[in-house]
Amino acid sequence: MSSEELRKKFLKFFEERGHKIISSASLIPENDPTTLFTSSGMQPLVPYLMGEPHPLGKRLVDIQKSFRAEDIEEVGDNRHTTFFEMMGNWSLGDYFKKEQLNWLFEFLIEELKLNPQKLYVSVFRGNKEIGIERDLESVEIWKDIFKKNGIEAKDVDFAEKKGIDNGRIFYYDESKNWWSRSGAPNEMPIGEIGGPDSEVFYDFGEELKRHENSKYKNQPCHINCGCGRFVEIGNSVFIEFINTNKGFKPLPQKNVDFGGGLERLVAILQGEKNIFKTDLFIDILKKIEMLSGLKYENNMLPFEVIADHLRAATFIMGDDKGVAPSNVSQGYVVRRLIRRAIRYGQQIEIKQDLWIQEIAQVIIDKYKSVYPELERNAKFIMDNLANEGIKFEKTLEKGLKELEKLFDNYKGNFKNFVLDEKSLFNLYQTYGFPFELSIEEINRKRVQAGGTPMSKETEGNLLKLFREEIKKHQELSRTAAAGKFRGGLLDTSFKTRSLHTACHLLGAALRQVLGEGVRQKGSNITAERLRFDFSYPEKLTNEQIKKVEEIVNEIIKNNLPVSFKEIPLKEAKEEGAIGVFESKYGEKVKVYMIGKEDEWVSKEICGGPHAKSTGELGHFKIIKEESSSAGVRRIKAILE
Ligand code: SER
Repeated sequence: MSSEELRKKFLKFFEERGHKIISSASLIPENDPTTLFTSSGMQPLVPYLMGEPHPLGKRLVDIQKSFRAEDIEEVGDNRHTTFFEMMGNWSLGDYFKKEQLNWLFEFLIEELKLNPQKLYVSVFRGNKEIGIERDLESVEIWKDIFKKNGIEAKDVDFAEKKGIDNGRIFYYDESKNWWSRSGAPNEMPIGEIGGPDSEVFYDFGEELKRHENSKYKNQPCHINCGCGRFVEIGNSVFIEFINTNKGFKPLPQKNVDFGGGLERLVAILQGEKNIFKTDLFIDILKKIEMLSGLKYENNMLPFEVIADHLRAATFIMGDDKGVAPSNVSQGYVVRRLIRRAIRYGQQIEIKQDLWIQEIAQVIIDKYKSVYPELERNAKFIMDNLANEGIKFEKTLEKGLKELEKLFDNYKGNFKNFVLDEKSLFNLYQTYGFPFELSIEEINRKRVQAGGTPMSKETEGNLLKLFREEIKKHQELSRTAAAGKFRGGLLDTSFKTRSLHTACHLLGAALRQVLGEGVRQKGSNITAERLRFDFSYPEKLTNEQIKKVEEIVNEIIKNNLPVSFKEIPLKEAKEEGAIGVFESKYGEKVKVYMIGKEDEWVSKEICGGPHAKSTGELGHFKIIKEESSSAGVRRIKAILE
C-alpha cells in the first residue's frame, strides 16, 4: 500500500464514521508559546479541546504536518524523523474510550490488514499523588477487542523489570502514558490540558537498534524499551483534565486526541522495518546515491540524516508562513537542519554545487500533490538553500581562521597537540564549526609536525566530553525555555484573549501604515506581551511605529465589538478575510470581525478565542521593533 493510499484510507474510514476532514494547519503555530513548531495534531486544536465550538462539529479527522526538533539525534534508528505526518482523529466532547479503541483496532486490522498477533498496547498505570486512577476502563476494552480477535490478552505491570512476560497489555507511568503539550503531569503549567493515553505498538520481531553502544543490550526487552523491535504506531490520548491551582480537574468535556505516525505505518504496510525504506524516501535516497556515487545500504546514517533534514527544512521553508534560516528561534532550527545536511553530504563526498537544491526538488515533486504549498513556495525554498549554502562556506572559513589562532597561541610541540572540549565546543557554538572538522585540522597539524593522527580512543573521549558540553548547554536553554513557558501560560484567560485581539488590530494597523502587502509571518503570546512577525523589507521609522500605536489605540478607545461567523473558506476569501489557511476539502472556517457591519477594521480567519470588544484591551504599546529574518520584521507589544 502506498503512502498516498494510506492517507486516503485513514481519512475515509473516519469520514464514514461521522468525522469531518480538516486540512493540516501550518507548521508555524499561531499564538502558542509552548513550542516553536507544530509538533502534534493537537496543538492547533487546543481551543476546541477546551470547549470552543468547532465550526465543523465534534468529530474531526486530519493529517497534520509536524516537526520535532528534539528527535534530531534519533534520526538513524529505524523509526524517527524530525518532520513527520501525524494522522489524527478527534472527538471534541463526543465519543470516548470505547469507540476510539474499537475503531482504531478495526482500522488497523480490517482496513490495513495488520496481523493482530503483532499488536501490543500500553495503558496508564495511574498515580495516586495526582489523584488519577489506573486506566482499567481501557484495559477492559482492550481485553474485549483482543478476545474478539482470538487473543487472550494478559495485562502486565512493570514490564520495565520483567520484560514481556507473555503480556499483551502493559501499564506504564506518566513518562510514557500521559500526554500534554508540555509533557508529564508535573511539567504542566496551570491552565494546560492533557490526560492519560493508550498506545498501540507493532512487533517487528527482533531487536533493531542500529546505534552503536546500544544502551538496551542489558535490559529486558519490552514494548517501550527503545531497541527498535516494537514500534509505536499510534496514541489515543484521553484529554479530560486541566491543571488548576487546586490540582487536576476534569475538563467540561472529555476529548479523544488520536495521533498516528504516517511514516511508521507506511513502513509496516510496505513490509519494511525502517521508515526510510518506504516510498516516501526512496526517490530522495536514489538522488543521494547519484550525487555521491555511493550506496545507501553502506552509508545509512549520512543518507538518512540528509534525507530527513532536507525534507524537514523544505517543509518549514515551504509553509505558507515559511521561515528562512537565521540565528533566532525557528530560523535557527532551519539553519541547523541545512548545515547538518551539508556536513553529512561532505562526509559522503558530494561535490556538486547546489546539490541541496536538487534534493529539495525531488522532495517537492514527491509531496506537491498532497501539500501544494511546497510548489507555491518553491522559489523561496530554493533561494534560501542557495544563500545558506554560501553562508555556511563562509562560516567554515571563519572557523578555520579561529582554529589557526588557537594553533598560533600554542607553544609546545604539535606532534601531540589536542584541544580541550571547551575550545571545541566554542568553535562549534560560535562559529558553527563542526567537531569532525576540528579533529581533521588538528590531525593535519600533528602530521605536519612529524607526529601521527590522534588515536581513536583519544578522539572518542574528546567526542564524549564535547557531547557533554552540548548537553549542558541544551539543559541551560531548556531550563530557560521551560521558565518562559510557565510564565507564558499562567494566565490563559483574559489577558491572552486581549493580546490575541491586539494581534489582529496590530496587523490591520500595519497594513494601513505600511501597505496592504504586509503579511503576517507568525505570532506568539505570553501573559506579558505579544510578538508579531510580518513581511516588510525595512526597519520601521519612529513615526511609523507611533502611527501604528495611534491607530490601535483609537480602535480600542472606540470600544468596537468583536464577533465571528462560520463560513466556507472560499466565501471567507471572497469576502476579503485575511489569514493563512489552506483547504483541500472546502471546509468551514471561523472568521473573526472587529468593528461594525461593512465597516470592519479587521476581518481574519482565526480559531479564537478573543476579547468581546476592543474596549477591554487597555493601552497598546510597542516595546520593540527588530529584524526577525531576511524580509521579516518583529514587533513586541504590551497592553498596559
Ligand atoms: N497528541 C498525541 C501525540 O502527539 C496524539 O495525537 O502523540
